[in-house]
Amino acid sequence: MDPRGNPGRGSDRIDIPLPRTVGMSEGKVVMIDQRKLPASLEFLECADVECVARAIETMAVRGAPAIGAAAAYGLALAASAAGGGSREEVLEELSRAADRLRSTRPTAVNLFWAVDRVLRAARRVEDAGAIASAVLREANAIAEEDVRANLAIGEHGKSLIGDGSVVMTICNAGSLATVWYGTATAPMYSAHREGRKFRVVALETRPVLQGARLTAFELSRAGIPVTLIVDGAAGHVMRELGVDLVITGADRILSDGTVYNKIGTFNLAVLAHELGIPFFVAAPTSSFDLEAEPGEVEIEVRPPEEVTTLGGSKIAPRGVDVYNPAFDFTPPKYLSGIITERGILRPPLSLSIRRAFGG
Ligand code: MRU
Repeated sequence: MDPRGNPGRGSDRIDIPLPRTVGMSEGKVVMIDQRKLPASLEFLECADVECVARAIETMAVRGAPAIGAAAAYGLALAASAAGGGSREEVLEELSRAADRLRSTRPTAVNLFWAVDRVLRAARRVEDAGAIASAVLREANAIAEEDVRANLAIGEHGKSLIGDGSVVMTICNAGSLATVWYGTATAPMYSAHREGRKFRVVALETRPVLQGARLTAFELSRAGIPVTLIVDGAAGHVMRELGVDLVITGADRILSDGTVYNKIGTFNLAVLAHELGIPFFVAAPTSSFDLEAEPGEVEIEVRPPEEVTTLGGSKIAPRGVDVYNPAFDFTPPKYLSGIITERGILRPPLSLSIRRAFGG
């Protein structure tokens, strides 16, 4: 589906005033270019897999489910470019493309999950000429399932947001971070549709400012009141403004409930725990990694320039040592629950995760 032809409609039932984040049109992957937001809503078109890989690396497209879908569509481009080759040649080309996509960003498991899922679909096809269409079908299925999962997360999570409440979130786990509707934002959009009045406190989320540039943009576009704060104000605002609930997204959730998410999420979880504020994570099952152990997941470290410059101006002395981890992990003891498309998983999380995954 071409995101540009789909303004604000992600399903038959529900509208929010944002196009889909990722889609495919006329042989090109079409993505909202999130580097341009909030100044302008522009689309980036990619005709080859390298362009998609660069879009993920440079965060033109970002957010765990969105990069999973983008990578799946990237493989569709690779499969179509390899058309005419033998089955082995097409699969070889796909495997090269998969390696390139996997090398882009290490932490969000959705990327690896989507790439593996598409490769499995391709390998099931015997006829070389039918691989490209099977790959595109699988990429479309991943995108559609993401929208459905997010709508279900909204249904399960909306009752957590009471009338008059204040909800805090970090980064952007919104429609822009998914194919459509978002994860942390899904309960917000669903509660808003029911006429509930609440306010969202969005952390700006240094250094890439996804909270300021993206979450504040998409929530205000949807008519949800949003207050933007600097990251360091979180504890004070929780206590003094009376935050009722924190909802964040996740890049990867382990079998024991450990949550990898945007840097600063752990801070929020500890603060919420100390102040007795419920702390929920919203994520589809495609964000779970039941194989990895805590400590095995690579946390992406991004370039120092993200920290030493702001809007193109230098804000730190030349040569200063910088450490810029993009994610952190939050141990399960800080979580009140995980909102998934299969319902809200409650502590003890290792048990409820095992149950949700059927054993
Ligand atoms: O570096 P980003 O912008 O890709 O990080 C995004 C996040 O940390 C989100 O919270 C996470 O991917 C969940 S998106 C539904």
